[in-house]
Parts: sequence; C-alpha cells; structure tokens
Amino acid sequence: MNNDIPEPQAVCSPITSSAIFMVATLAPDRDALHTVREWCADIAGLTRSVGKRVPAGNLSCVCGFAASAWDQLFGGPRPAALHPFREFGVEGRRAPATPGDILLHIRADQMDLCFELATQLMTALGDAVKVVDEVQGFRYFDMRSIVGFVDGTENPVGRQVPKFTLIGDEDPAFSGGSYVLVQKYLHNMTAWNALPVEAQERVIGRTKLSDIELGDEVKPSNSHSALTTITGADGEELKILRDNMPFGRPGAGEFGTYFIGYARSPAPIELMLENMFVGRPVGNYDRLLDFSTAVTGGLFFVPSAELLEDLAERTPD
Ligand code: HEM
Repeated sequence: MNNDIPEPQAVCSPITSSAIFMVATLAPDRDALHTVREWCADIAGLTRSVGKRVPAGNLSCVCGFAASAWDQLFGGPRPAALHPFREFGVEGRRAPATPGDILLHIRADQMDLCFELATQLMTALGDAVKVVDEVQGFRYFDMRSIVGFVDGTENPVGRQVPKFTLIGDEDPAFSGGSYVLVQKYLHNMTAWNALPVEAQERVIGRTKLSDIELGDEVKPSNSHSALTTITGADGEELKILRDNMPFGRPGAGEFGTYFIGYARSPAPIELMLENMFVGRPVGNYDRLLDFSTAVTGGLFFVPSAELLEDLAERTPD
C-alpha cells in the first residue's frame, strides 16, 4: 500500500462470514448534525472495544456518507466525485435510488460481534438518525451467492486492492478514502431454480460447481460476467472490490443479495450498472436481472480513518 496516503478505514479488510449493512437518514435538526459529527470520532474506539473481546473475530466497520449528507454535516470541501446515486434502466428493470445519508458496513466472522457493534453505534447516535434499511448477511457455503454460484472470485488481490479502491493524488484532500455503492436485490428463486444448471451457467458466465469462467466462444454477451468486465482508456481491466452477502427469510419467500462494491471513483461501478441495466450495446442487458430486482440503491464516500476522526471537529460553512 502507498505509505504516503492516510490510514484508510477497513475497506480492504478480508472477506468475513457475517455482516450487517445499515443505511440511515439524518434527523432534520441541528442537534442531530452535532451528534453525528461527534460520533465520527467514536466509531474507531467502539469498534476496538467490541472487537477486543474476540480477537480472532476480525471485526471491522466502514462508515460512509452520501452526497445528501456531506454538505449539511461537514460543509466544504467535498469529495470530488461524490454525487447522488445515478439511476439506470427502464421500468421493470431499474436500479433505483433510495433514501440514505449514512452507510455502515460492519463485518466479522461471528454475527454476535456485528450485532454488538451495531447496537453500540446506534446507541451512541440515539435519535440523531433513522435507520431506513438494515440487513444481516451471512456467508453461504463455499463463498456462494444465494443463486448458488461462487461470488467474489474475480475480486482484485494483493496490491491491486488499494490500487483499485483507495483515492490517491487525484483528490489529495480525500486521499485514503473510497467510494462505496450498495444495492439490495431480491431474487425470484422459483424461476431461477427452474433453469437447468447449464442455462444458469450461461447467465453468470461461469460453471456452477467448479466456478471456472466460460470460454469467450461460449460465454454469452449478456452474461453477468461479460457485462461487468470493463476496461479503462488504456485498455487495462478496471476492477472493483465486492463483498456481497446473501440474506433472506425463507418463511417469507425472501431470497436476496446485498451488493456492495468499493472503488476509488464511482465511475467504474456506474459503468457496470449501465452495462447491466441498459445493456452493452443498449438492449443487451444482464440476463441475471430477469431473476433479480434491485430494491435499494445508494452511493457513499468513505473517508480515510484519519479524516473520519477529524470530521468531528468540522463545522458546516
Ligand atoms: C444481483 C446481484 C448480484 C449477484 C447475485 C452477483 C453475483 C456474481 C457472481 C456469482 C459472480 C462470478 C464470480 C465472481 O467473480 O465474483 C459475479 C461477478 C462479478 N460481479 Fe456480480 N453479482 C450481482 C450484482 C453485481 C453488481 C450490481 C455489480 C456491479 C455494479 C457486479 C459486479 C461484478 C463484477 C465486477 C464481477 C467480476 C466479473 C469478472 O471479472 O469476471 N455484480 N457476480
């Protein structure tokens, strides 16, 4: 990792077996803004206090702020690429933007650690926020998504992780920060399970049991893998860091994927969404969306750990 950049939050931390995703909106009063600012300086300490109790539990917390919250909470300057979630697609196949000012991504190898930290963080915030979405995600067998395919294989590794996820010289005041995009998806598992495995493999672009990428001669151009593979101006493949989690309530017929993607700019994640929902070329959309509906969407800026503490001292202009 580049030692010149400030210490990041736990963006690049290893994949865990449990997670809690929380999206909250700010209460509309000045006291609430003050409480949230002060809380920014407490997050790291609370994470240490809870995590210390199970040292091998890998507890971590990432906190992000949406464009709707930044100016109110902290004023200028603002992260260069922070903007409201961009919607993509057409009616019936749409990536909607939904309300949310603050995102918490809490990860650990045991749900009790995630649960305890979420409780402590919420207690500290009190009435200053209203939680509008809360999902407990779990690891499903050998790193599989709820649709039965291994998820996360093509994530960047090693030095590629900070290279693709952490802001550097392009926005010096916010270096060590990151952007994170989340979407909650619900799947029609009856329709999905009715597809033969070979057809499912053509939807994802990989084999189901062994997780091997299909060759270019057989991988359809509307497969998920084909449409989320993108390259930059120099022809180099652009990666994002994903840590999706299955969630659901079988008794209620709910089967979901909580998508979470980190990158040093929102642009690559948005290009993937455009390819998936609009199509590449237009109309050649992601076949996975015939079985999956996005019900939430939010884009957040993740300050470096150092900046997060300093934000407690900020006052909006
Ligand atoms: C409907 C919810 C989703 C499910 C169930 C899902 C599942 C998967 C699976 C099983 C793979 C193959 C293994 C891997 O490399 O991880 C994959 C790959 C990938 N997905 Fe998703 N995904 C979802 C949504 C998204 C979204 C919204 C994005 C981006 C905006 C995305 C970006 C990617 C990328 C970049 C890859 C790697 C492609 C490659 O290099 O081959 N996924 N996903």
